[in-house]
Amino acid sequence: MVGMGWFMCMMLMVCVISCGEAAPGAKFEDLYRSSWAMDHCVNDGEVTKLKLDNFSGAGFESRSKYLFGKVSIQIKLVEGDSAGTVTAFYMSSEGSNHNEFDFEFLGNTTGEPYIVQTNVYVNGVGNREQRLNLWFDPTTEFHTYSILWSKRNVMFMVDETPIRVHKNLEDKGIPFAKDQAMGVYSSIWNADDWATQGGLVKTDWSHAPFIASYKDFKIDACEVPTTTDLSKCNGDQRFWWDEPTVSELSLHQNHQLIWVRANHMIYDYCFDAARFPVTPLECQHHRHL
Ligand SMILES: *[C@@H]1O[C@H](CO)[C@@H](O)[C@H](O)[C@H]1NC(C)=O
Ligand SMILES: *[C@@H]1O[C@H](CO)[C@@H](O)[C@H](O)[C@H]1NC(C)=O
Repeated sequence: MVGMGWFMCMMLMVCVISCGEAAPGAKFEDLYRSSWAMDHCVNDGEVTKLKLDNFSGAGFESRSKYLFGKVSIQIKLVEGDSAGTVTAFYMSSEGSNHNEFDFEFLGNTTGEPYIVQTNVYVNGVGNREQRLNLWFDPTTEFHTYSILWSKRNVMFMVDETPIRVHKNLEDKGIPFAKDQAMGVYSSIWNADDWATQGGLVKTDWSHAPFIASYKDFKIDACEVPTTTDLSKCNGDQRFWWDEPTVSELSLHQNHQLIWVRANHMIYDYCFDAARFPVTPLECQHHRHL
């Protein structure tokens, strides 16, 4: 009996480990709702589409708010000419002192590369942009974009490869986003005043509608009952994202991040001396991160 129990237990573990990753995401409507231009947000079962045309952009938001955890989504960005458009996937709290973790995808003319810009706002202050291009064409297939948020850091990942780690450096006197619950959002809009080649290339409306497609919606995070009651999520309970094996980069992930930075990074605010004559404090501690 003991042997059998152990065997069953092993079987279960094998399944939890190997089936866990492959588990399909939730349905769009279980986690999200349209938040802007409902008629420009089309949900046809597995895939949800946001549409930008010369009347409107569009957006959706999570039904709940969260403090710490992991959110992932698969996105296929606007095909062909996407110049002037920006598609964003982000987490944000509310109010003027808000915190925010952003993925912004800056479109381009047909055949030219998208830029992925990430940014982190803490207590209402952003200006922490990093930009990279991808090692694949994000307009032909779905790829997974994730934000992993723990008390230790905020990690941005593309297909599970870390592209940015924003560390908690409170011990150095630098504020960290950890006491405001966040919603999860996505939107597409016209930003041809800045997005493509610094605003030189304008949106060509004859190519509208511009469509970003989404599927495989996953939120494995601590849901707060209200934005003022965070005790369930920031108390003593340890969640899986608190484990050092999750919240810290493994050697392999560290190598991946170094590879991304060496081969795909095109801008890092930490090295923009024209913009920041005094190197931002967190950059002095982040070193290569
Ligand atoms: C668009 O393509 C041009 C030319 O390859 C490139 O310089 C630029 O960084 C690309 N991305 C954006 C968003 O402008
Ligand atoms: C939007 O674009 C279409 C196609 O180019 C055009 O026919 C229509 O007049 C435009 N509408 C507005 C409000 O600009």
